[in-house]
Amino acid sequence: MARQGVSPEQNFFGKTTMSHLTVVDHPLIQHKLTLMRDKNTPTSVFRQLLREISHLLAYEVTRSLPVAQKTIETPLMEMQAPELAGRKLALVSILRAGNGLLDGMLDLIPAARVGFVGLYRDEETLQPVQYYFKVPDHMDERVVIAVDPMLATGNSSAAAIDLLKKAGAKDIRFLCLLAAPEGVARMKEAHPDVPIVTAALDERLNELGYIEPGLGDAGDRMFGTK
Ligand code: URA
Repeated sequence: MARQGVSPEQNFFGKTTMSHLTVVDHPLIQHKLTLMRDKNTPTSVFRQLLREISHLLAYEVTRSLPVAQKTIETPLMEMQAPELAGRKLALVSILRAGNGLLDGMLDLIPAARVGFVGLYRDEETLQPVQYYFKVPDHMDERVVIAVDPMLATGNSSAAAIDLLKKAGAKDIRFLCLLAAPEGVARMKEAHPDVPIVTAALDERLNELGYIEPGLGDAGDRMFGTK
């Protein structure tokens, strides 16, 4: 597979990692992703698969969350046990397709605070246009995970991260399902401090800004629109 703009290395966990990009090629994720890519997979199954994959990706993107020890009592004795430290996580969905990943993330982290960034892509310029922005308070004190299934040109993702930084966010991670090399390169250039976690790094963008081989329009496939 031709991968432009990035030079991944395989590590012994079976993940492809670079300082800013982690491709989680776990067999369960890859199997489910293959089903999602198949154009014959119906909407309801597509949505369910995305939810399941987001559980597995959530595991990776939250790997380095800070924990602190607290004293609890088991039925047998007192012990020091770890719990997530600091303010609640902020999950930020980049509308509308981000909501598919958000649902699964919330299954695992139900106490997370939730924000939304509404950006649509101008089909001619492929540039992002903002129409909605609402995020939790104290963004500067939270780990922020921005979610959008498709990192394509990277223009909307980079614009969404700009907005999150303007709102004070300092510790931001970006979670997607599929990434194009062009999008990864754009994000690295605009936000080298934001690590990206994805299930796959695809080959290229086509002239319409779609990821190839990809899975088509994630929002349309998720919501049954055209
Ligand atoms: N957005 C999508 O939904 N699909 C792509 O391939 C690119 C951007």
